[in-house]
Amino acid sequence: MRIRPETKNDFDNIYNFIKATFETAKVKDGHEQDFINNTRYSDKYIPELALIAEKNNEIIGYIMISKTYVEKNDKKFEVLYLAPVSVLLEYRNQGIASKLINESFKLAKKLGFKSVFLAGDPTYYNRFGFVPTINHDIKCSIPVPEELYKNIMVCELVPDALKGISGIVKM
Ligand SMILES: CC(C)(COP(=O)(O)OP(=O)(O)OC[C@H]1O[C@@H](n2cnc3c(N)ncnc32)[C@H](O)[C@@H]1OP(=O)(O)O)[C@@H](O)C(=O)NCCC(=O)NCCS
Repeated sequence: MRIRPETKNDFDNIYNFIKATFETAKVKDGHEQDFINNTRYSDKYIPELALIAEKNNEIIGYIMISKTYVEKNDKKFEVLYLAPVSVLLEYRNQGIASKLINESFKLAKKLGFKSVFLAGDPTYYNRFGFVPTINHDIKCSIPVPEELYKNIMVCELVPDALKGISGIVKM
């Protein structure tokens, strides 16, 4: 298996891959593939952080990390947003998503980014160092019931990345 950044030639295959792999997702909105397309044509897109895992020229995993921000009192602080990460059904539970997450975080750090936000299951994302954003006094731009606050998470790529940062994260 190798991990590499996506190129234009991959876009159609990624669209179909995401659509298919999210059919078996626990949580989905059904528009994950459109979110990726829209992100590519926005200033949130970071081509180096849209990665494919491939084996024998087939896409078996994908991750996109894009730009977003935490806002407070009209001040915006740039951060990253992980969505989506996805693995072909028959390749799950072999550590492929973990490799995509670790590789993209390594690259993100090299690019100078300091924190990554996401909405997801804490039992999975805790292992990468994600904690609820509420621990940092950061709430989500989308209304979330209090019992799901724990699912809005952030991972500091460098120690104290969020020191002094609070407000609303745009998701
Ligand atoms: C979530 C997903 C990306 C994990 O990929 P993977 O390559 O199987 O992940 P890894 O091999 O790195 O990790 C497997 C672990 O994740 C756990 N896991 C998988 N999906 C999970 C989920 N939705 N919630 C909580 N835990 C999950 C597995 O139980 C396993 O746990 P264990 O290591 O304690 O046994 C994959 O299941 C997938 O593509 N799902 C459909 C799309 C999706 O839901 N994406 C996440 C939201 S953006």
